[in-house]
Amino acid sequence: MRDEAMNPAIYGQAARAGTVYLVGAGPGDPALLTLRALRLLGEADAIVHDHLVSDPILELGRAEAERIYAGKERGNHTLRQEEINALLVRLAREGRRVLRLKGGDPFIFGRGGEEVEALADAGIAFEVVPGITAASGIAAYSGIPLTHRDYAHGCMLVAGHLKNGTTDLDWRALARPGQTVVVYMGLLGLPLLCDELIAHGLPADTPAAIVQHGTTPSHRTVVATLGTLVERVAQAKLTPPTLVIVGEVVKLQPKLAWFEGKTPI
Ligand SMILES: C[S@@+](CC[C@H](N)C(=O)[O-])C[C@H]1O[C@@H](n2cnc3c(N)ncnc32)[C@H](O)[C@@H]1O
Repeated sequence: MRDEAMNPAIYGQAARAGTVYLVGAGPGDPALLTLRALRLLGEADAIVHDHLVSDPILELGRAEAERIYAGKERGNHTLRQEEINALLVRLAREGRRVLRLKGGDPFIFGRGGEEVEALADAGIAFEVVPGITAASGIAAYSGIPLTHRDYAHGCMLVAGHLKNGTTDLDWRALARPGQTVVVYMGLLGLPLLCDELIAHGLPADTPAAIVQHGTTPSHRTVVATLGTLVERVAQAKLTPPTLVIVGEVVKLQPKLAWFEGKTPI
């Protein structure tokens, strides 16, 4: 799209030199990008991206833009967080229009807060553009409403492992009935997760699902129960990224799934 053809009321203002745009790319399907993200992809001079940003989305970036892979695959952090922060500051000081592109939403388990703190400390101008987080994108594409008046009056989003690699969740709060629990980065700690939820009061037959590569052509959902999920996942040989959804709403999946097995347009 040509710059002058873009209505700022729809796409926002043109990207400015020396500014870092921290942008959520959504869970994978390029059709889930915001209009603002699309404009900034077309204007950035440098695109610093994580491994969760899908190739079809990167292909929407300006051909001349320098693309820098910042990593963040589990166990394979190409650049340390401090190095990424320093890189963003340096690129902005060079007068570039910098697109920091992250999977999902940058402020949900994306370390976006840490990056804009560093930019604020260094006096660099920045904007934050939200993206569709994995929980809402994947729930929608899987046919699992995260809340539903008959099954769940609330939803908790938690990380399956913490900064130091351990899992220390408020199991009592997570095991309350009448809510949905969504676990990001939950594959490695799945046995512990299922055991603790059962030990803290959720019935072993509580519906539970795990979704791999949500919203992409390899989107795949495994539906089981807290008691059987670990075994089913081992049989299914899922690969990351995966998202775990626990709660009564999961039983709607067989009826409401609409995306899986369909080739995206
Ligand atoms: C570091 S967190 C980043 C979350 C991201 N900021 C968001 O809002 O979705 C990475 C985790 O998000 C989940 N995730 C992100 N995209 C996903 C996808 N397309 N399918 C399944 N899980 C996904 C996985 O649990 C993955 O381990």
